Amino acid sequence: MATKFDFYSDEFQLDPARKFKEMQEKCPFHHSEKFDWYSVFRYKDIAAIVRDTETYSARFGPGPDRAKPEDAPVLVSADPPLHSKQKKAITAAFNPQTIAAMEPDIRAFVSRRLDAMVEMEECDLMEEIANQLPMWVICRMLDIPFDRDYEKLLGWVDAIAGGVFSDHDEEMHQNRIDMMEAVYNYFGPHIQAKIDQDKAGEDPGDDLLSLIAKARIEGEPVPFNHILSFALFLLVAGSGTTTTLIGDFFHRMMAHPDQWQKLLENPALLDPAIEEVLRIDSPVHGLFRTNNVPVQLGDLEVPVDSKICLMWGSANLDPEIFEDPLEFDITRDAKILRKHLSFGTGIHACIGGPLARLECKIVVEEFLKRFDGIERTGPMVPYPYPTLHGPYKLPVRLTARKEG
Ligand code: HEM
Repeated sequence: MATKFDFYSDEFQLDPARKFKEMQEKCPFHHSEKFDWYSVFRYKDIAAIVRDTETYSARFGPGPDRAKPEDAPVLVSADPPLHSKQKKAITAAFNPQTIAAMEPDIRAFVSRRLDAMVEMEECDLMEEIANQLPMWVICRMLDIPFDRDYEKLLGWVDAIAGGVFSDHDEEMHQNRIDMMEAVYNYFGPHIQAKIDQDKAGEDPGDDLLSLIAKARIEGEPVPFNHILSFALFLLVAGSGTTTTLIGDFFHRMMAHPDQWQKLLENPALLDPAIEEVLRIDSPVHGLFRTNNVPVQLGDLEVPVDSKICLMWGSANLDPEIFEDPLEFDITRDAKILRKHLSFGTGIHACIGGPLARLECKIVVEEFLKRFDGIERTGPMVPYPYPTLHGPYKLPVRLTARKEG
């Protein structure tokens, strides 16, 4: 009998590592009868599927539900050659110089938030910094007002990101559709203004949406509905994921004081520490491909056009690649550590990885300038939707550094 695996169960969501290990050993390819989708758990199988873009397409989108024909294919739901042309249109916003140029402003924002936290005896780390920073960064990139719209945007991202894996849940599904409509109404005029400026021969700016409005794909401007899909995807892809990484980082460190101590004694370990958190707590459990032809996965005959989930989080815990994978160890060999799949791999590998790492790094660096202690004052509340893996609430008490 096949091993039981229910992605939506508390058993999995609350302790994915234990289940991943079991699936790698007993059932590396799984078919869910209930939801009719497949899951892949071993590193080498996931890497092989990602590389084979002829057989495995992104066109039905990254979630378990099938993208509709009217949905504009954008980046993570586009195949070559359209995908590479779209990616080219946005690379300028993610190149190392652009990211480095953002650093002083990111640091200033983080400093303001952490200075405010010095005044608080206790706080929710997610609310005070982990939710705010990634949203502030993406607002800046999309040229939308953070101060005015933060709360609203946060609610939208929760509903939309949450809905990616929740199509079978009527309420979540409807909630997602309502939110998408609100987001479209929000971004529509903003995007149209940029298109109009471009048409009039004016420069709409250097933010991400302006870059897309100015881009030409096969000599044609990017259509309005595609730019809208870009905006929606970037808002969601750039915020909740990075929030989760920052939350995971502090949550892990509090659970492993020996590793925290190592970092305090040797701040050069910060980059590998972030990488190790990404590996062991993959913020995104997994995302989907769809097979263009019937395929065989282990014993499973997979009919054409099936939804296949590549479990990044499981690949990161594969003992064939990572020794003692369940051990949290910030001193792992850097070259091996970098093989983790939390940002995917291949043509769809996350373009925002360096930015996400930088955001987390600045938070920790600025944190260490102000505080020398952090402890939980209540249980960590996990993210309530199955798309992301990490804290939703993280109540903490911080000890400010003594002067001198
Ligand atoms: C810790 C934070 C993040 C994680 C864990 C993460 C995870 C991922 C993963 C797993 C993929 C691969 C999708 C696939 O192969 O199906 C991806 C793609 C992508 N991510 Fe991220 N991401 C993060 C941060 C960001 C940020 C900050 C941005 C932008 C501001 C971003 C933008 C994108 C884009 C545009 C793609 C699509 C790339 C493509 O299809 O070519 N991500 N991300």
